[in-house]
Amino acid sequence: MTEPQPLVQPPTDIPAIRRVMMPRDTNAVGTIFGGVILSEIDLAAAIEAHKHHPKRVVTVSMDKIDFKAPVFVGDLVSFHTRTERIGRTSITVRVDVWSQQRFGGADTVHVTEATVTMVAVDDAMRPVPVGQLD
Ligand SMILES: CC(C)(COP(=O)(O)OP(=O)(O)OC[C@H]1O[C@@H](n2cnc3c(N)ncnc32)[C@H](O)[C@@H]1OP(=O)(O)O)[C@@H](O)C(=O)NCCC(=O)NCCS
Repeated sequence: MTEPQPLVQPPTDIPAIRRVMMPRDTNAVGTIFGGVILSEIDLAAAIEAHKHHPKRVVTVSMDKIDFKAPVFVGDLVSFHTRTERIGRTSITVRVDVWSQQRFGGADTVHVTEATVTMVAVDDAMRPVPVGQLD
């Protein structure tokens, strides 16, 4: 298997989520709180997983997540998703986060990446096969 190449250009696909960061999203030093980004990564992964399983999915794992560059108030942040693997009951999604620096020259920067595994579950939270509708 080849190693993934570093991303130098923003993706051209339609992101699962785009959101302008607001003052309420900041941490104690004034940049965007990592937990806000994590929350959106989780949602973006669920949106991608729902392409394969329209019913209930839950997050079982978020892989190592590096915050490569800060995100600022006013930045337009895009969460791009790609299905990496579909297992029996799980769906693994790669999420790449790009931030367009609205007040800093409009550069678009790759700020975060994550691998998230979602599991299809029934109403009792028991894993069910991906795509199973009843
Ligand atoms: C998701 C949950 C139902 C899975 O239960 P489980 O007993 O681990 O189920 P299984 O062992 O049958 O695993 C189910 C699938 O998840 C995968 N999986 C389990 N733990 C995993 C982990 N840590 N990382 C990646 N995949 C994992 C298994 O490989 C399996 O995939 P497959 O069927 O495609 O091969 C259970 O762990 C749970 O309820 N977790 C809490 C979920 C939640 O509330 N998330 C919101 C955040 S708090």
